Amino acid sequence: MLESADGLLPVARTDEIQPGHTKKFILQCGGRELEAFVLNHEGTFHAYLNRCCHIPMTMDWVENQFRSEDGAHIQCATHGALYLPATGECVAGPPLGQCLTVVPIEVRDGTILARWPADG
Ligand code: FES
Repeated sequence: MLESADGLLPVARTDEIQPGHTKKFILQCGGRELEAFVLNHEGTFHAYLNRCCHIPMTMDWVENQFRSEDGAHIQCATHGALYLPATGECVAGPPLGQCLTVVPIEVRDGTILARWPADG
């Protein structure tokens, strides 16, 4: 993975993530790694660390499966916390009211670029 001069890493192409789908990626910085995912929510891309606000563990028991059964939320597989796709805010479950860590992204020429989050 190549890092650009402004610290952005290409993590996906827009055309490989259809609405309602996700793609996982790894961010690397100073010898540290963070697992994250990018989500296409109604044509807009959002990215979050793959780390639940309840217990800091990954949320997908099944690889790259982050959506609730009805597709309306991001769901943590461990205790079922539900997060809003567009903001990462928890609206049901143990970490109610807390927010997933946002991974800053930009879309340039069909490529999704991600930056290490400030509070990563
Ligand atoms: S670890 Fe995610 S809801 Fe408990």
